Amino acid sequence: MERVRRICDNERFRKILDEIDRLEKDRRFCRHSFEHLLDTARIMYITALEEKINIPKDVIYAAALLHDIGRAEQYKNNIDHNEAGKKLAETILPECGYNKSETEQICDAVLCHREKNFKNNDPLSELLKKADRLSRLCFLCKSKDECYWSEEKKNKQIDC
Ligand SMILES: [Fe+2]
Repeated sequence: MERVRRICDNERFRKILDEIDRLEKDRRFCRHSFEHLLDTARIMYITALEEKINIPKDVIYAAALLHDIGRAEQYKNNIDHNEAGKKLAETILPECGYNKSETEQICDAVLCHREKNFKNNDPLSELLKKADRLSRLCFLCKSKDECYWSEEKKNKQIDC
């Protein structure tokens, strides 16, 4: 997991996370802190083990850790966060030791993790989309009634 440690220590990544934290300080709905990214990584990895999906652990973690890093661009410049995140991930991943094909695979999952851009039949994108949703504790959320998520999408209990 050396490459995952390098993402966590990456200066660009850390600056972006700090910026997202600042921009979401007063946000009532789900935030996109490191905790959310790590929850998503762990759920993805558990799901991959349960469903026998053979993707390297450090590729799974990279996709999860980077999937929402475009949030700051979305808040500041109204660029969809999956598109902004893909561009940032293209720079960060090689800095952390991921090769060209791994970078493309991870960037594709970052780009496609949103409902409207989702591509079926890509196991990493499917894992990411599912875990991203499952990481949210809608049943405890005080803002759930105002949330834009559909009732079917909201997590009404722990899915285990
Ligand atoms: Fe997310």
